[in-house]
Amino acid sequence: MTKNIDWSNLGFGYVQTDYRYVSNFVNGAWDDGVLTQDANIVLNECAGVLQYAQTIFEGLKAYRTQDGKIVTFRPDLNAERMVSSAKRLEMPVFPTDRFIDAVKKVVAANADYVPPYGSGATLYLRPYMFGSNPVIGVKPASEYQFRIFCTPVGPYFKGGAKPITIRVSDFDRAAPNGTGSIKAGLNYAMSLHAIVTAHAEGFDENMYLDPKTRTKVEETGGANFLFVTKDGKVVTPKSDSILPSITRRSLVYVAKEYLGLEVEEREVFFDEVKDFAECGLCGTAAVISPVGKIVDHGKEICLPSGMDDMGPVTRKLYETLTGIQMGRLEAPEGWIQVIE
Ligand code: PLP
Ligand code: COI
Repeated sequence: MTKNIDWSNLGFGYVQTDYRYVSNFVNGAWDDGVLTQDANIVLNECAGVLQYAQTIFEGLKAYRTQDGKIVTFRPDLNAERMVSSAKRLEMPVFPTDRFIDAVKKVVAANADYVPPYGSGATLYLRPYMFGSNPVIGVKPASEYQFRIFCTPVGPYFKGGAKPITIRVSDFDRAAPNGTGSIKAGLNYAMSLHAIVTAHAEGFDENMYLDPKTRTKVEETGGANFLFVTKDGKVVTPKSDSILPSITRRSLVYVAKEYLGLEVEEREVFFDEVKDFAECGLCGTAAVISPVGKIVDHGKEICLPSGMDDMGPVTRKLYETLTGIQMGRLEAPEGWIQVIE
């Protein structure tokens, strides 16, 4: 029985669900892993994660489709990205087949929390891994915990499809040759001061520029950029210091193969932004959130798509992607994994 939750009014917050998955890495091997009802973790005071932030995570969603099935979207790509994150932070790899199996177990065990089709909410899954044994010299932990919990969520930005206003940040979220391309907790800790001050000044998010030259568009704190040119081309920044968004990679495919649009994945100079027709933020949490205005130290760039609604190309991308996720449109081979 679906839980009695006011699905349509959910924000992007934590709601404790019934089961989560836990596996421990001890003596050089992962144990079998179990589902547990215990949402708390007890750690030694000197655990690697607490001292040196040795933690990585992922984010993906489960959806209830039009015909009542529960599905997940491209969990194999999250599993693979977590392998890259683990290697970069000297953590053990959690096998990709076990990752997908654990995702399925958590969704199935919490099926009552998968929001109804059409409610606007989805079940967000958060796989993560951290160093769990005491570490005091700067070195990797030797014991780790891999977990997945889930929580039903609504839109990441209040207002859902309403265009947001972002500012160009003076802070960087990543360093050249740093960890910007992996999903490490430390990247998000780096962004907290920037987001708190952005909110205090009335902005919804930060646009980060490339940390080396500060001339190119990178991404926001939690999503990649998609721009649309005045002649209908999709342009998305390419950089070694941004997260390789699964949503962005999927949208590039959708733009080309479903919508017949031209797509450019390339360096995008900030100077070009004033000439774009539409701008959106794409990610698992953000889906595609339209940007209406970008403020660069008091200078406003108002996208022609305006502050009332998504631009027409952004809307087509949004409708096609969510159509695939919710089972209204046929998905490319392998994109949708059915849970039940
Ligand atoms: N960029 C950052 C910094 C993110 O945290 C996320 C969220 O996962 C994304 C981009 C979007 O990635 P994905 O589409 O794989 O969720
Ligand atoms: C996601 O979209 O899954 C993310 O991890 C972004 C985060 C800012 C919530």
